[in-house]
Amino acid sequence: MKDLIQKLTETFSPSGYEHDIRQVIRNEAEPLVDEIKVDALGNLIARKGKLGKNGKRIMLAGHMDEIGLIATHIDENGFVRFSGIGGLYPHTLFSGRVRFVNGLTGVIGGERIADVSKTLSISQLFIDVGATSAKDCPIKTGDVAAFDRPFFDMGRRMVAKAMDDRVGCAVMIEALRNLKSSPNEIYFVFTTQEEVGLRGAATSAFGIDPEIGISLDVTGTGDTPKARKMDVGLGRGPAIKIKDGGMLSDVRVVQWMIRTAEKAKLPYQREVLEAGTTDATAIQVTRAGVPVGCISIPCRYIHSPSEMVDTNDVDNATKLLVALLSAPITL
Ligand code: CO
Ligand code: ZN
Repeated sequence: MKDLIQKLTETFSPSGYEHDIRQVIRNEAEPLVDEIKVDALGNLIARKGKLGKNGKRIMLAGHMDEIGLIATHIDENGFVRFSGIGGLYPHTLFSGRVRFVNGLTGVIGGERIADVSKTLSISQLFIDVGATSAKDCPIKTGDVAAFDRPFFDMGRRMVAKAMDDRVGCAVMIEALRNLKSSPNEIYFVFTTQEEVGLRGAATSAFGIDPEIGISLDVTGTGDTPKARKMDVGLGRGPAIKIKDGGMLSDVRVVQWMIRTAEKAKLPYQREVLEAGTTDATAIQVTRAGVPVGCISIPCRYIHSPSEMVDTNDVDNATKLLVALLSAPITL
């Protein structure tokens, strides 16, 4: 599982440029499923099982894309100004390294500020790719980059860029490996463009027309010094989402998840996330509406180059997902 998470997090695929990560995931998933295809927005849709009696059509969504940076213009000295693809926090950026999808690398520098206790805004930062003029700068306006940071195994904990949401993708792949039989028709959807507005989930949900939707994604924690108060911590189990910034989980789905976790004796946490949301939000309001929920992997330092998760939470999220999918579902 760690090897898989390393492979997934070390691939560079910001929103809209999911080609590389899609290929990596496809190689893992294709031998495990009955059918696999890519839709018009680039979502990778893998079906396992056929609708039997007592079965339901279920859509799982984990997003393949990661937050990134996009060149907005190149100045006369060859410095690349940029803005975010998805939510970037400026205080995590200065002196960081980035890799463009064409393979070129750069380091993030910043303008001088008189008061060093202040953070630079994104408009005061730039990417230095080693160019000396606009002419010899290999980066063009519109070129896209992602954080460049290797995966880091701390034993019980793992750190990487793009843990959001490659860890969710890893849980789905691992669940595919461990799912023996199911009465359900399950669509494992590795979605595109989540970080810019849940766009891949919206179109794939419309196409699949599921009876139940579940997203697999990271959530914040309240267990670091002076953190925002939140009743989720690393190592205390996967979080069953009750509410986030964009969605109220379907109460029946929440109850089904809690029942299943308790029956399987798996640790779980009750999650209320005040800001941020997941693909489940888009699934919930597709067509005439879908009951949805979300299994969250607790994660520190989300949207930074060093996102941290706990190995046990990842394993228990996988076990919970497999338990949910294995049996007939009555909401
Ligand atoms: Co995110
Ligand atoms: Zn995410």
